Amino acid sequence: MPSDLVSAAIRRGLFTRTVGKRLVFFQEVSSTMDEAARLAREGAADGTVVVAETQTAGRGRFGRNWVSPGGNIYMSVVFRPSLDALPFLSLLAGVATVQTIRKTTGLSPKIKWPNDVMLDGKKVSGNLVESVMVGEAVCYAVLGIGLNVALDPSQSEETAGIATSLEAAAGNPLMREEILRQLLQDLDSLYLKLCQGQTPLEPWRAMLETLGQRVQVTWRNDIYSGLAEGIDPLGNLQLRLEDGRLLTMTAGDVTLRTD
Ligand code: BTN
Repeated sequence: MPSDLVSAAIRRGLFTRTVGKRLVFFQEVSSTMDEAARLAREGAADGTVVVAETQTAGRGRFGRNWVSPGGNIYMSVVFRPSLDALPFLSLLAGVATVQTIRKTTGLSPKIKWPNDVMLDGKKVSGNLVESVMVGEAVCYAVLGIGLNVALDPSQSEETAGIATSLEAAAGNPLMREEILRQLLQDLDSLYLKLCQGQTPLEPWRAMLETLGQRVQVTWRNDIYSGLAEGIDPLGNLQLRLEDGRLLTMTAGDVTLRTD
């Protein structure tokens, strides 16, 4: 009987229409993003999922390293969305992750714009979308999700003090396979809705901890300070600067201001 994370997750049945119809497991990869992109180039179907136990070169936004020891969830999904749906994949991942954490642990995570999933002010999950276009059409998109289930953040300088895990927050061991199965199911139902034109914008907005806060947004080498006033229809952050101008941020890193 195989006992990898994917086999364990589907043992009691995985009821999805698209996400996880094909599931590929690796004990170790450089990055599930690369494996999923390779499968996509070879013609893998919408919803194909790659899961790995460990990654040797896991990556995050802005080319950062994603610390990837065993015991956590590292997965990438091949999507073949419409151009209209593409900007919502990252929001969809944030909403699915929050829903899954709530259902499987009873914890109440929040989203720090744009898509860090936070527990007690520390990051427990992040997601990344990489897409390839041909002209105006989306050839494929790969959505990657890293979810810290058992991570000990003190083991790495990159995570110490800023990251947490579900088990640390819950204070008890958790069934990783249950969490993975729930995440695939939540992704699947949100993706189905997205394909029918229903975006995850409203649930995502309701999960944001950032709105109404005084924040600093770092984007490339610039820092913008102001009030996180609103969200536009694509999920961009509307930042009211101290001089009164309203800036629309499409990307960046947010820090809450305590002064
Ligand atoms: C971020 O918050 O910066 C995004 C982190 C995304 C990490 C996941 S882990 C699975 C997939 N493979 C990767 O190399 N990255 C994503």
